[in-house]
Amino acid sequence: MSSPHHALASSSDAPDAADPVKLADMWSVSGQLLHTEAYRRTHARLLAEAIGHREQKILDAACGMGFPMRELHDLGFTNLCGSDADPDLIAKFRALLAAAPATAQWRPRLMVATWQELPQRLPETFDVVLNVDAAIGFMDSWLPGEMRVGSTRIFARVVAVLRNFHAVTAPGGRFFIGLQKNNHKGNSFYPMHVGRMSIDGVPAEAQWDMTYDWTRRIKTWVNTVRIDDRAFSQTRQSYLFDLAELGDFLLAAGFAHVERLPTPDDLYEDILIAHRGDEAA
Ligand SMILES: C[S@@+](CC[C@H](N)C(=O)[O-])C[C@H]1O[C@@H](n2cnc3c(N)ncnc32)[C@H](O)[C@@H]1O
Repeated sequence: MSSPHHALASSSDAPDAADPVKLADMWSVSGQLLHTEAYRRTHARLLAEAIGHREQKILDAACGMGFPMRELHDLGFTNLCGSDADPDLIAKFRALLAAAPATAQWRPRLMVATWQELPQRLPETFDVVLNVDAAIGFMDSWLPGEMRVGSTRIFARVVAVLRNFHAVTAPGGRFFIGLQKNNHKGNSFYPMHVGRMSIDGVPAEAQWDMTYDWTRRIKTWVNTVRIDDRAFSQTRQSYLFDLAELGDFLLAAGFAHVERLPTPDDLYEDILIAHRGDEAA
């Protein structure tokens, strides 16, 4: 893994208007702080148990730097494919695989694809499709673009993307989706200390401050990463819905039924498993 200095080396801590820090670089640091070894192990074992047979064809549609694909590979899953909108994170994923002796020979199929274009880019189906690590909570905020305004448009936008996940899930297959636990209607502000550790000998710390506007259905996320004595900060907005609403959206997108995969308190996301019916693709 590149050091945090290296990841954010060319960035400045200028105000957000210029937004000079790449989100992929911020994530490459805060992702490491969030995904401690214990976190990755607990999460991947939970998924592995729910997925079952190791030969199933699996797509991680928000694979980023490779969590949980790398852990599932370690647990014996043999047919893993990844996609993500961010080419920088996919490059970091490949670099991580190459750097570790256990994965240096593993060449999973990884492609740059947004959720909005998934069925066109991947005209095939998978037994299991993953969109975990609370990725859906960053929809339209990760990539620069036009965010929808108003709950009707926002909900339609989310359902349209869930339909794409339905399209790439095989008949009888399952779609796993994670949502941050703090996305619940009792919350108007949630300060989350992501973690603090030394990465390659450099002290690093991250804090996410999230403000929830349930009327506008917008979450404002202030992402601060401190490396040594420098602070890098970014503000992003994303759509806001809770777990019950996500369950309804999955049914509206065509899934036959939805169940909850209980997660322990120390995992920061709830996970829903949406089942595609046995109908022909
Ligand atoms: C919280 S991160 C999870 C990353 C991943 N688990 C990892 O190990 O790095 C959310 C991921 O969702 C991806 N993402 C966000 N919006 C997307 C979209 N519309 N289409 C595809 N990927 C998207 C981001 O690029 C990012 O990798």
